[in-house]
Amino acid sequence: MGNESINWDKLGFDYIKTDKRYLSHWRNGEWDAGTLTEDNVLHISEGSTALHYGQQCFEGLKAYRCKDGSINLFRPDQNAARMQRSCARLLMPQVSTEQFIEACKAVVKANERFIPPYGTGGALYLRPFVIGVGDNIGVRTAPEFIFSIFAIPVGAYFKGGLTPHNFLISSYDRAAPQGTGAAKVGGNYAASLMPGAQAKKASFADCIYLDPLTHSKIEEVGSANFFGITHDDKFVTPNSPSVLPGITRLSLIELAKTRLGLEVVEGDVFIDKLADFKEAGACGTAAVITPIGGIEYQNKLHVFYSEKEVGPITQKLYKELTGVQTGDVEAPAGWIVKV
Ligand SMILES: Cc1ncc(COP(=O)(O)O)c(C=O)c1O
Repeated sequence: MGNESINWDKLGFDYIKTDKRYLSHWRNGEWDAGTLTEDNVLHISEGSTALHYGQQCFEGLKAYRCKDGSINLFRPDQNAARMQRSCARLLMPQVSTEQFIEACKAVVKANERFIPPYGTGGALYLRPFVIGVGDNIGVRTAPEFIFSIFAIPVGAYFKGGLTPHNFLISSYDRAAPQGTGAAKVGGNYAASLMPGAQAKKASFADCIYLDPLTHSKIEEVGSANFFGITHDDKFVTPNSPSVLPGITRLSLIELAKTRLGLEVVEGDVFIDKLADFKEAGACGTAAVITPIGGIEYQNKLHVFYSEKEVGPITQKLYKELTGVQTGDVEAPAGWIVKV
């Protein structure tokens, strides 16, 4: 069955209720087999740790419609592994990689009519999450947990697709040096709401966070990772315990090396050394690759390649990444799981 009510070309990044979501409960030491349900409302205890102490984590990944009609999931094993690390950090029970991938597949199949057609640039975004639930009041791990996945059709996260955007350096931190920055937990995002809103109010796409210890190095671009291309063609991306290890970042590191022949450096990106880069971008599941036109820091805008045009290396990386995701370009072994 198709979905005539959706204008695929106009999709943004907004919640809509799709047909089915996956729901599994952890009780008495184990996850149940899980079910698909039409109900998009959770009924949970008012004492749930997710509500009071932020005991929750989430993931984001996409399913793509290919030219031949088949459906690709992009590196779901990596999302499963990251969710396991997030759960461990917040003392929540881990979901096995097998249960995670099977649940993703089931949700994609059950919402197939919401997958944007090949060629529209859209995808079906999956949002897995684990939350601490059950009657509780003390600051401790929850007696019960819920693992759920819902799906929404999405277009580009930053309006305008592969067009450069400007970003504002924030004076706030989203995570502490040895805190939870490397885990995909809600608290990091709660901390990012105000700086993000301030940047958007000032007409920037989002804010950029510096390292929380010294405020001298770029860490993340809103909800995406930073990369830059140096004048001698090195792909540089920050590496820090407070950066979320993005799966798009991980994939670009490999594609930059093996497909574009670039040298890759995971290291410091000093805010006073932006002139080292001829191109820069933000990368993530939602952001895909968003070229960074300029970065404003201490009331000065530093422009990389251009505020209007996309640099050639960013463009090549984009083509390679999106080609792999939609099946137009051969994927490295193990990256694609067919639904
Ligand atoms: C803070 C943050 N950094 C980086 C990323 C990029 O990670 P990924 O490529 O796995 O989507 C995300 C988004 O998911 C994020 O929320």
